Amino acid sequence: MENQKLIEAYQHRRGNQIPSIARAPGRVNLIGDHTDYNDGFVMPMAIDREIKIAFTPRTDGKLCLFSIDFQEEFSMDLSSFEKGESHWGEYIKGIAWALQERGYSLKGWQGVMSGNIPKGAGLSSSAALELVAAVVFSRVSRFPWAPKEMALLAQKAENQWVGVNCGIMDQLISAAGEKDHALFMDCRNLETQSVPMPKGTAVIVMDTGTRRGLVDSAYNERREQCERASFFFNVPALRDVSMQTFQDSCESMDELIKKRARHVIGENQRVILAVEAMKKNQASELGKFLYESHVSLRDDFEVSSEALNLLVEIAMKDDACYGARMTGAGFGGCAVAVVKDHEAQAFMDRISSAFRIKASHSGEFYLCQAMDGAGVIEQC
Ligand code: GLA
Repeated sequence: MENQKLIEAYQHRRGNQIPSIARAPGRVNLIGDHTDYNDGFVMPMAIDREIKIAFTPRTDGKLCLFSIDFQEEFSMDLSSFEKGESHWGEYIKGIAWALQERGYSLKGWQGVMSGNIPKGAGLSSSAALELVAAVVFSRVSRFPWAPKEMALLAQKAENQWVGVNCGIMDQLISAAGEKDHALFMDCRNLETQSVPMPKGTAVIVMDTGTRRGLVDSAYNERREQCERASFFFNVPALRDVSMQTFQDSCESMDELIKKRARHVIGENQRVILAVEAMKKNQASELGKFLYESHVSLRDDFEVSSEALNLLVEIAMKDDACYGARMTGAGFGGCAVAVVKDHEAQAFMDRISSAFRIKASHSGEFYLCQAMDGAGVIEQC
């Protein structure tokens, strides 16, 4: 929603004050999936799909937020609140809880919110919701915006309040993204490095339109399998195992755990190689690693789906495509493709109709721009 429209919606609902606007983006991960909770490497970018909140402070310690998209009002008292049913408001409570646990004294606020990140598509709408609320709290409660700290608190909210056992990638990229760049992240020490896309390329998000209900349990199961693998190698995390060590000592491993470990160890290597390819402007090399990542997620980590595989194969056959892969947790949702930028629209048209014919339902295709991480965009 345009800023002006959001301000009007705020004034229509809350009166004539001029609000500030906070925003936080969704993300697409270029390469490095299921590596973040293994202390490994990832390379997502924040995208031009975001959640915005127009807000003003309140003096009574209450928070009132109207979601334009859900047509629903959520309110809470910051001095006393409890976990409730699964609802978007739980993300707001979760971040309030995590900030208070960290020792921040929070002031109340009122706002209206709108976003354009498709939900359940694996583009991190929940991380964006946590981060946009964190931005508002930091502004009204007057504490400095520290992206890494805020990402960690948002992850804590998601893990301990909402109850989803995610890694740090989604929150960190939503907090710390950089315009026109992907962000290489070391998920052990949270160091980041911005990496420009190779010249002449565009990033396309390809949404299969399929959503899977069982993601959470399958995700937790994968995490446990990775822990078993790191226990086998007697290291803190799979990040600490090189491909050489893996090959030398994996013989006696359980077959399933071996496959899971091979994905994570190989994926970490691919992220490093992808960063090098991007720095050297080698789009074809980058594309090759993307597809290798897909194959590994499909065959070794087993988190892809029929629709994702179909979409990736269709994309890979297209001359404009350097490489494609499923992205995010998997089991449905989105794939990502790096394509020749002057052919981006034609690519989307071709893939869209080929997918519709073969899958007998439609996908959604977006050309993405890399954006800055969460912040305030308009102040009174
Ligand atoms: C989800 C999680 C992330 C990450 C990805 C897989 O998006 O929230 O932390 O584990 O899956 O790479």
